Amino acid sequence: MKPQQEDISAVSKPTAPVYGVGDSTLQAAGGEAGVKKLVEAFYEYMDTLPEAEIIRAMHAEDLTESREKLTTFLVGWMGGPSRYSEKYGSMNIPGAHRHLAIGVAEKEAWLLCMQKALDDQGYEEVFKRYVMVQLSFPAEMCRNR
Ligand code: HEM
Repeated sequence: MKPQQEDISAVSKPTAPVYGVGDSTLQAAGGEAGVKKLVEAFYEYMDTLPEAEIIRAMHAEDLTESREKLTTFLVGWMGGPSRYSEKYGSMNIPGAHRHLAIGVAEKEAWLLCMQKALDDQGYEEVFKRYVMVQLSFPAEMCRNR
């Protein structure tokens, strides 16, 4: 007998959370306050993890502006208000990183900081995986070596 769709993929079950529709991702992240906390943890890891030293050194000593820009960007990216483009114009992620030397190690360090920051937020496992998968595409596109 042919298996039913629901037997093949748990992801297609109607109870699976839906992200990426409207601002559902932002809601799952705890709204704008949640994204702010996530980004604070992200830069805290970047500031302290030995694996991230190489990418920390690419940033200004004071991370205030980086925190503000990444928070604003992610709020829009998660379906919230597009304040980043209103303030700074449209953002081409790889283009904004072209002046930086980003290879596999740098990309992995960035994603490691994000994974650890997500782990600290008490999010659902499936939500953390969704965010990591979604961010792995632009992170890969930032690689220029
Ligand atoms: C792949 C590894 C990545 C590295 C090593 C990296 C590193 C950096 C650095 C050093 C800056 C500051 C640039 C400067 O001051 O000139 C920056 C800015 C920024 N990055 Fe990344 N980044 C990475 C991936 C990403 C990804 C995947 C995203 C978004 C999904 C992102 C979003 C941003 C944003 C929004 C800014 C602020 C741009 C601006 O308005 O100046 N980055 N990044």
